Amino acid sequence: MLKACINHGLHIFLQNYSMNEHLKICMVSPELSPFAKIGGLGDCVASLAKFIAQLGHEVKVVLPKYASIRLPEHCIEHLSPLVISMGYGKEYGKIWEIRAKNLSFYFVEFHRYFDRTGIYSDVYGDYRDNDERFAFLSRVAIDVCYYFNWVPDIFHGHDWTTGLIPVMLDTVERQRSMGQCGSVFTIHNLQHQGYARKSVLDFLGIPGHVFRPDGVEAFGQVNMLKAGLYFASKLTTVSETYAREIQTPTFGFGLDAVLKFRAGDLIGIRNGIDETLWSPQHDPFLPAKFSTKNMAGKVFCKRRLQRCCDFPIDDSVPLLGIVARLYEQKGLDIFANILPGLLEKLTLQVVLLGNGESSLETRFIEIAKKYDRRCFVHIGFHEALSHLIEAGADFFLMPSRFEPCGLNQMYSMRYGTIPIVRATGGLRDTVENFSEKNETGTGFLFDDLTESSLYNTICWAYKIYRDCPRAIAGMRLRAMVQDFSWNTSAKKYIDVYHWAKKC
Ligand code: ADP
Ligand code: GLC
Repeated sequence: MLKACINHGLHIFLQNYSMNEHLKICMVSPELSPFAKIGGLGDCVASLAKFIAQLGHEVKVVLPKYASIRLPEHCIEHLSPLVISMGYGKEYGKIWEIRAKNLSFYFVEFHRYFDRTGIYSDVYGDYRDNDERFAFLSRVAIDVCYYFNWVPDIFHGHDWTTGLIPVMLDTVERQRSMGQCGSVFTIHNLQHQGYARKSVLDFLGIPGHVFRPDGVEAFGQVNMLKAGLYFASKLTTVSETYAREIQTPTFGFGLDAVLKFRAGDLIGIRNGIDETLWSPQHDPFLPAKFSTKNMAGKVFCKRRLQRCCDFPIDDSVPLLGIVARLYEQKGLDIFANILPGLLEKLTLQVVLLGNGESSLETRFIEIAKKYDRRCFVHIGFHEALSHLIEAGADFFLMPSRFEPCGLNQMYSMRYGTIPIVRATGGLRDTVENFSEKNETGTGFLFDDLTESSLYNTICWAYKIYRDCPRAIAGMRLRAMVQDFSWNTSAKKYIDVYHWAKKC
């Protein structure tokens, strides 16, 4: 089970505790695929909830009903109003439910905060009241449980948007039924911390004594992520390496000391992937299916991708794919610096799908204009194209500055597309560097995010593609059979839930 995996406290706990009991888990998240997704958080929460439910536990997921969400017809409308107990009085919302075996998704309708097309932002930028919106979501989650008279064993919050839940459980809820619940707080990304005015505490009825440096306070404001880190019963993050990295100043975004302080309650659990959605044998977005036994479909997918990008259809030219949020985290500014040089030197095709910082979007658009039959850029969010890139490309690039887990490198490996990644966080934990001598490895790794190391690593991959097709074929097959399923990771979460419950 968890033996090799970091946390001594959990290990001792597991030796002395039998865990046959079925658990009730309330998950809270701002994103949930396929309804509301910006990045990997939505995929992760949806698949984790599903796999925990499949293990026989009862899972309820609470998220906002954003204006962009189209609910299916079989969705249940709960007619009596949801009462939300704010610090200043009551608010009323409405719950819509999608129900499956052991699993419910609760979409909460509340116009003032959630009736917007974006999750965090629109074309004008981040919503200015995100602190209030997600503080409100945290309260909503607890009140949804009261609404159904359902006391979970664990509240499981994801990222800063849910950081005030454990604080409420420990304060305003302490003498009420939800105050008995344990809490697990998962860090998907430490960079986004959710700063709020101090008044957010009154907004939720949380007493002011938590506003202290070893509580929710940071730089005179409430830091919602820090709140979760201090108050949750147990902490997880999405890979073992990231669990270690965030305890250092380089990756800690100012919270490394807090994480060190709570190291005994922190564990890294690598995300899995949902192979019913991401597998070359079944993916409905692909023009042809394939598997390790028959790779012809992959060639077909590559040709389709080349056609979509208006590239020459040529199997011998390596195709490099990227699907990413275009933000500093992903290191693609460094890639933009070297891309023209790469396209001048190598016979390479590059396709990039993403959106984010407008300056980076513009740079990639300019490069694609100049090298139009070798570089294609699609700015926007496009689920179908993302699947085709994962399947049709030869290589998949992730030069991240930091990467808590990363799902794309696992998706790409599942499709026999070889990742070229910086050795950090979950990328380090999931990709094994190629060794020509030993014929091992599933991708190409580099340590330092510099132009030269990125350039050289891409050239290395290019050279192997050109000179050693056998090595590439072997690497593809090794990548495709890696076990990235949720089987092991979901069980680790169950262990952590039991651990949190016993606190
Ligand atoms: P992160 O969560 O940091 O963005 P991950 O690798 O964990 O990184 O997950 C990214 C997820 O978001 C993947 O499912 C990826 O395909 C998807 N994604 C990111 N940008 C886009 C886009 N522009 N269009 C479609 N899917 C995207
Ligand atoms: C975050 C991280 C990413 C991770 C995802 C799901 O968005 O940036 O690395 O895979 O969450 O956990």
